[in-house]
Amino acid sequence: MNQDELKAAVGRAALAYVPAGAVIGVGTGSTVNHFIDALASHGVALSGAVSSSLQSTQRLLAHGIRVLQPGELEGRLPVYIDGADEIDPRGCMIKGGGAALTREKIVADLAERFVCIADVSKQVPVLGRYPLPVEVIEMAAPQVARRFAALGGDARLRMGVVTDNGHPILDVHGLHIEDPPALETEVNQWPGVVTVGIFARHRARVCLLGTPAGVRTLDF
Ligand code: A5P
Repeated sequence: MNQDELKAAVGRAALAYVPAGAVIGVGTGSTVNHFIDALASHGVALSGAVSSSLQSTQRLLAHGIRVLQPGELEGRLPVYIDGADEIDPRGCMIKGGGAALTREKIVADLAERFVCIADVSKQVPVLGRYPLPVEVIEMAAPQVARRFAALGGDARLRMGVVTDNGHPILDVHGLHIEDPPALETEVNQWPGVVTVGIFARHRARVCLLGTPAGVRTLDF
């Protein structure tokens, strides 16, 4: 199986985590695109979805799935389903390769449980091989980059990319993130940081991992 087939397999497997008639949270990316398509092709009955990006909103609406704003919810979402760029043995993740990290963290925060869908290439012993995305206020980008340099990171502006919220992204190379909750907390204190792409506070509780031998379920 190629990587896209592994992504499609976990997208289908995630249907088992969707309560009938619920409103669910929906992430962003190529793996989530497979999940959205599977919702439609399997005729899953949903009351609606809260979306983490304009891209996912368009795909949900194209399939006739209602998209709600967080303010329209009466309670929490039972589940948030999204991909990751890396996932470690505790379920902590790097996200934001698709520049949707801020809204992804907002929607994840509304949910009881994060179900991560990923192909096996995303599984790592320690986060940081994938450059860490950080959405920043533009004028703060140089000073945020200097703070990462003091930690041994090389922050590079992602050229030609502006998020759905109108901000640039720094991609930080060279980090070895042994303690994701501590680094997430630290970077969250820096003025001008909108969102750091470490999902430790909002880590996955379940990961459906696509492998050539089939979908493995990891519980954290
Ligand atoms: C979007 O900003 C990211 O957090 C995605 O969830 C992540 O990049 C996974 O993307 P793929 O499913 O396309 O690999």
